[in-house]
Amino acid sequence: SKKITIAIDGFSSTGKSTLAKQLAKELEYVYVDTGAMYRAVTYFAMQNGYVSNDFFDKETLVNSLSAIKLHFEFNAELGFAEMFLNDENVELPIRTLEVSNFVSKIAEISEVRAKLVEQQQSMGKNKGIVMDGRDIGTVVFPDAELKIFMTASPETRAQRRFDELVSKGQAVTFEQVLHNVQERDYIDTHRADSPLVKAEDAIEIDNSYLTKEEQFSLVLELVEEVI
Ligand code: C5P
Repeated sequence: SKKITIAIDGFSSTGKSTLAKQLAKELEYVYVDTGAMYRAVTYFAMQNGYVSNDFFDKETLVNSLSAIKLHFEFNAELGFAEMFLNDENVELPIRTLEVSNFVSKIAEISEVRAKLVEQQQSMGKNKGIVMDGRDIGTVVFPDAELKIFMTASPETRAQRRFDELVSKGQAVTFEQVLHNVQERDYIDTHRADSPLVKAEDAIEIDNSYLTKEEQFSLVLELVEEVI
């Protein structure tokens, strides 16, 4: 069977990455979490003092982009690739609510997007890839053979993200997480450059009432129709 490109887009915490990881494992494809790349740039900006609650030096960040080197390294124990920023494993710090609170502001910057999109396209040039994000089917791989657009109610999504953060030992409230999910959805769908929108040829899956197993077998059927 031929190798294809699978684009998975959608709102925050719709279970995109869980599905994408399962698919990549099943098909022996590469999985790329593009959200991790935007998060790593955000973490870089925070570490260097370019962004905080009351301060945002966009220009210096843009001028420092060439100092940001991102790469993924597959961790066989975990079964997925971890995000590295300038050779430091940042998989844990990029998943905090603090990073989530700034990431959509960073992801609005066209220069940031251009840099990351270029790297994403080069990672996918040989196909055999499952990539998840917000603009994969619309901007990164408009010719992807299979495009999935995932949705679920904000409450369902916030509950999932809340459970995930609590299980990692982070001190957050459900309201904080819901607020973050809603705010990111708003910024991601309203930004000028590459807003989150369902590609015309994407297949929409509302997984509010679907188990992980149901979603997986649904998408696997779609893959088999294409390959
Ligand atoms: O997927 P995740 O929730 O980790 O993404 C974090 C943020 O990164 C999103 O809310 C969005 O602002 C940004 N993002 C993006 N384009 C992508 C992936 C993520 O703008 N392809």
